[in-house]
Amino acid sequence: MAGDAVHDVLVADAVDGVAAEIELLCGGRVTRVGLDQVLGVAAAAAALGRSPDAVVVVERDARVDELVAALGRAVAARIVVVTARPRDGTLASLGAFDVVPLPPARLELAAHLFRALESPAAEGARRRPRKSDVILGSGAWLKELFDRITMVAPTDVTVAIVGESGTGKELVARTLHDQSARRAGPFVVVNCAAIPEGLLEDELFGHKKGAFTDARWDRQGLLAAADGGTLFLDEIGELPMSLQAKLLRVVQTREFRRIGDDRDSHVDLRIVTATHRDLERLVADGRFREDLYYRIQVVTLRLPPLRERRHDIPLLAHHFLLRHRAKLGKHLDGFAPAALTKLVGHDFPGNIRELDNMIQHAVVMAPGPMVQPEDIPLPASRSDGAPVDLERPFRDVKGEVVDHFERTYLAALLHAQHGNLAAAARAAGMDRKNLWQLLRKHGIDPARYRGRRR
Ligand SMILES: Nc1ncnc2c1ncn2[C@@H]1O[C@H](COP(=O)(O)OP(=O)(O)O)[C@@H](O)[C@H]1O
Ligand SMILES: [Mg+2]
Repeated sequence: MAGDAVHDVLVADAVDGVAAEIELLCGGRVTRVGLDQVLGVAAAAAALGRSPDAVVVVERDARVDELVAALGRAVAARIVVVTARPRDGTLASLGAFDVVPLPPARLELAAHLFRALESPAAEGARRRPRKSDVILGSGAWLKELFDRITMVAPTDVTVAIVGESGTGKELVARTLHDQSARRAGPFVVVNCAAIPEGLLEDELFGHKKGAFTDARWDRQGLLAAADGGTLFLDEIGELPMSLQAKLLRVVQTREFRRIGDDRDSHVDLRIVTATHRDLERLVADGRFREDLYYRIQVVTLRLPPLRERRHDIPLLAHHFLLRHRAKLGKHLDGFAPAALTKLVGHDFPGNIRELDNMIQHAVVMAPGPMVQPEDIPLPASRSDGAPVDLERPFRDVKGEVVDHFERTYLAALLHAQHGNLAAAARAAGMDRKNLWQLLRKHGIDPARYRGRRR
């Protein structure tokens, strides 16, 4: 597991089951103590080396009311009580943050635990009317990120977000907007890499009627559209030199000129930029204006790639599983341990977006009740978009790609044919014996796909 940035969860329970579940769920540091030991919370915390991020108390034979009340006084962490007792508000009044039925279904437990672990900053954002998702994760870097978001969001300071594609730059930009006084105003996204250079000026700044042959009306640009709100300039590194000077003026004075206009326009907006590029390098190469570079980097937020925060993979995977399960109305109980292991071992060149897509695929394909390793479409090698590996023999690399294709194909085929071998062979135009051999080669059991039509 990369880094030491993990959740510390203290589980008070007479037996191991729930603690083991939680360990699997959050990939964090889970310490189980007996119920009699809990009042020595200070001692338990000392054993952790710091205070826990959440405490889970499992009520089995005797009531834990007094324990919960005492814990509430002793620790700052949120307390989740797992109990078979009907919900009557008693535990909440004693200071329990949340109550989960015993025995807990794994995904329900995940949802409650994640809520308890969510940082107060994220929770604050959740209470307000909000369009963006909650930023999930754990560890020192994320705490620092939340602190900085909380600090800079209410100001109009220009913020630069730096990170690989799919690391959450746009999510952070939206969160900044949602936590600012501008949240009732527009949040306008401009992807500088997606708009052809010839059109970008018109898109951004707009034009005056008659500015060029086709300009039959005045046109408001995206800058004007962001008036009163936040302008998010994605992939700012791709902004052509010709427009950088014009943007610099906007950054400095909030003034600009529409194409063909002889008067200046003024806007009231906050600028947030994002890039996956090394802007310093672009400056050194003369492809990005130094003055603009300094103006937009007043505050820089760096988002690490997912492979540098692998401990968050189980948490994010469960989050996406809950979401896609609900969206697709499919019943799945969670991940088989081997499936999580497989995910945690992957490098995710596409970061969180890739994980999201992967889980969506798994939710569609998995026969259930648990997501199994073979439901997760992982390239055996980093062949997707990565440069071809010329260091290794053609046969090996090809073999891996073919293996991956075969596994994905077989999973989809069996899912579609509900595990019926004869029907699957027919649909695939394959000989039954060949199909059977292929399944054996990959250790896929067609029975797992049988009789679970939903
Ligand atoms: N920390 C996070 N917690 C939950 N979801 C996240 C997190 N970071 C990113 N995502 C999700 O991953 C996807 C990609 O994020 P995005 O902000 O578009 O990345 P980027 O702009 O860096 O390419 C989005 O669906 C986003 O909601
Ligand atoms: Mg993006």
